[in-house]
Amino acid sequence: MYFNNEYNNLHDHHLQISKYDFNKIILNRDKSDNYILEDKYIYLDFSRNLIDSQTLPLLEKFLISKNFIKFRENIFSGQIVNATENKSADHIALRNSENTIFSGKVNLINDIKKTLNKIQELTNIVHNKTETESLAGNIKHIVHIGIGGSDLGPRLVVDALQEFKISSAPEVLFISSVDPYELNRILNKVDLKTTLFILVSKSFKTPEILSIANFFITTLKKQNINFKKHFLLVSANPEAYKIIDTFSENVLNFPDTIGGRFSLWSAVGLSISISIGFENFKELLNGASEMDHHFLNNPPLNNMPVILALLEFWYTNFYNSQFYNVSPYTERLKLLPMFLEQLQMESNGKTLDLYGNQITYSTTSAVFGTTGTNCQHSYFQALHQGSHFFHCDLIGLLRAPDYEQNKSNYTFLFASILAQAQTMIFGYKSNEKEIVDKHKSIDGNKPCNLIFIKKWSPASLGNLLAMYEHKTVALGALWQINSFDQWGVERGKKSCSQIETCIKNDDICSSLIDPLSEKCIRLYKYLK
Ligand code: F6P
Repeated sequence: MYFNNEYNNLHDHHLQISKYDFNKIILNRDKSDNYILEDKYIYLDFSRNLIDSQTLPLLEKFLISKNFIKFRENIFSGQIVNATENKSADHIALRNSENTIFSGKVNLINDIKKTLNKIQELTNIVHNKTETESLAGNIKHIVHIGIGGSDLGPRLVVDALQEFKISSAPEVLFISSVDPYELNRILNKVDLKTTLFILVSKSFKTPEILSIANFFITTLKKQNINFKKHFLLVSANPEAYKIIDTFSENVLNFPDTIGGRFSLWSAVGLSISISIGFENFKELLNGASEMDHHFLNNPPLNNMPVILALLEFWYTNFYNSQFYNVSPYTERLKLLPMFLEQLQMESNGKTLDLYGNQITYSTTSAVFGTTGTNCQHSYFQALHQGSHFFHCDLIGLLRAPDYEQNKSNYTFLFASILAQAQTMIFGYKSNEKEIVDKHKSIDGNKPCNLIFIKKWSPASLGNLLAMYEHKTVALGALWQINSFDQWGVERGKKSCSQIETCIKNDDICSSLIDPLSEKCIRLYKYLK
């Protein structure tokens, strides 16, 4: 029974406090540290939330009533937590395999150690510009081919950690689209003779990826370049090498129990290691491992991912918030919102619960965001004076590598975060007399979390991303849904190939295609 006593207590509590004017409540709150949590890398200030001293304990009781503690143990011990695919979710095993927090599955840990050695070996070969039997030498560009979880994580991390790029390392480019505009953009940036393609696909059945690979293989062949020495394959599909012919030593596998959107820590992250070096890649993993320990060992109300999940649940299911904004106030994290779109919405965009019942309550919000202060000059008007309820994370970086040389710019960014947060929660009462004074007033009582990264490093980024992974999974527990499958996107792939076949055939397959699509196909086919 989803709507249990713990839920009903939350409902009654919401009725009571939803009328509060939080301005005064929160002002009194600033003397306590009850709304601050931190670990070695992150400082979470959740004091600007529409909660009182009862709210989180009531949310915790509901979470516990959904067997969260056992669920969390099951994840960390490799039990089946993805029932529809009959799989465990073993991404935690990828971090810090030397003294893993992940229990059980010795073979898995040994395989992960072997793959890490392979990642290190390939990273060194590329950095040393060595030609081998199976790999071209003097590589100047890496082209990472992947989509979704096989793209977004590595793309974010490589972009965010440019300051940690190894000087001798090749530039890493990413391509996920079959759009010829993008294919040619990449082609025009590289010399194929000194380019290494890393083709990443967990299933090795994603049509876009195979199409992109074939484009570059064909182009390499036209230039009489042995494409086999310019391709590495990364997949959970042991048959990958049968789909794209290459040397066996150019294939890296990862466990099928690693979800795509949780996979950057595996061989999927090879391009990360090549860009920032294997040691920094290990630091990324270690930062994530630090958060794994925090998530497993801390009680719910001293647990950053859990607090973020409880608050998102509170707004989604009691304030009917359908929009979650993430604004990183550092351009290093400009791709974070896109990464979180997939992580949260592909994990929790569901309406069947773990038992196959139709859900009658809200699940994931729409995730969106852009960097600060761009967001303030774009959509923050709607957050301050709009008709919708938004919940929000503002992410700040306290000490960038160049902080001392650029203190004034970083101070401006930091002050901007506090200013936006202050306006959201306390609002603004205009006391000017002219007619517009009403338009200048801001109600406030809009919540936000402040997430401060203490010092920028591969480890702090790993810590942040792992925090969001665990938050996403804790939300799945609160909503009693499977955060690890994604059946909704499988359908689109099938209908696309049907429609594509009809477009390419002379006759319009009216039996296969709905009349609306048929009309568009005619437009597409016969446009002059
Ligand atoms: O969007 C569906 C999906 O399967 C994602 O879950 C996955 O990350 C992406 O497509 C790419 O899949 P693959 O890594 O198998 O190419």
